[in-house]
Amino acid sequence: MTDAAVSGPSLAVDLAPGHPRGLRLRAPVLMASGTCGFGDEYRDIVNLAALGAIVTKTVTPEPREGNPTPRTVETPAGMLNSIGLPNPGAAGAVRQKAPIWAELPCPVIVSIAAHDDGGWTRLAACFEGLPNVVGIEANLSCPNVSGRPSFSTDPATTEATVRAVCAGVSLPVIAKLSPNVTDLRPIARAAEAGGAHALSLINTLLGMVIDPVTARPFLGGGGGGLSGPAIRPIAVRCVYDVARVVDIPVIGIGGIASTDDALQFFHAGASAVQVGTATFREPRTAERIVDGLRRRLTARALPSIHALTTHALSSIRARAGPPAARRPAGGRRNGAPRPCGTVSTPRCT
Ligand SMILES: Cc1cc2nc3c(=O)[nH]c(=O)nc-3n(C[C@H](O)[C@H](O)[C@H](O)COP(=O)(O)O)c2cc1C
Repeated sequence: MTDAAVSGPSLAVDLAPGHPRGLRLRAPVLMASGTCGFGDEYRDIVNLAALGAIVTKTVTPEPREGNPTPRTVETPAGMLNSIGLPNPGAAGAVRQKAPIWAELPCPVIVSIAAHDDGGWTRLAACFEGLPNVVGIEANLSCPNVSGRPSFSTDPATTEATVRAVCAGVSLPVIAKLSPNVTDLRPIARAAEAGGAHALSLINTLLGMVIDPVTARPFLGGGGGGLSGPAIRPIAVRCVYDVARVVDIPVIGIGGIASTDDALQFFHAGASAVQVGTATFREPRTAERIVDGLRRRLTARALPSIHALTTHALSSIRARAGPPAARRPAGGRRNGAPRPCGTVSTPRCT
């Protein structure tokens, strides 16, 4: 995909340079999972053709109703949600949503979450070969049935889960990580070692609002996930820390509502950004950030977003010292064979 129709600097990015086909998008701004439905809700109000891609609501193997209401509550600088991943399940998504995805003017990345390794593999396989579906985002922030709070809170589980996703699909795989850990870097490296072609960070932070009248948690699900401007500095820090220790692209997410917000993430080492909560206030936020980036690159006489992000990445990596100091042994390097990306026996649940 190119910027051929638009003059000025190129916003094109490849978010999976290590994948045989890559994940080439026309712009480095995507709509984040859970904040743009399955694309159909926004296609008439947002110029999706201007965006890099949309990331769908997370799809699980079976349909889910979601959590009891209320599911969202405003907080001083953002919102808390406990939606509970309502979705039509894998078969329902393929039947009801795939025909819509095929018609959208931007590519679709399908977000998925399963319960165990076999489930992740089978679920990923369901989305292989669908028209206009260009990648999988594995939502590793969801609860793990084996008792751990999520699939991305320890490196071994993260690596095994990403490997399981990659085994089911030949599409590029993005691992979306939870910020609810002490140090995201070993988790990020584990996702890379498991074969992730890119990382998305961050998902929401654990939080709670108590209703002072009832003295009970406000949300039907109890606690929830905090998003919006409040989490932006945390997300920028996560991107900055992780981009220095992995060789795969990092996609920044968290409280992005303006071009300046997005630029913070690019200067922290992100190759692209996703817009989430801001879309609820202004549905065209992502589209406006695309326009804003083009203007900023023009004003700085930069030929492309790639030029900006490459320079930013090399600066922050230089500050972190030589490669050996940046990453412990065992991680995969650019150009090394990927541990996955070929499908053995895809099987849809
Ligand atoms: C209402 C709501 C629903 C969400 N649902 C999902 C989801 O299904 N899967 C997922 O990976 N992230 C989900 N997220 C997290 C967002 O994709 C994003 O990572 C997070 O909200 C931080 O970005 P933001 O501050 O721009 O919203 C959801 C966020 C919100 C606010």
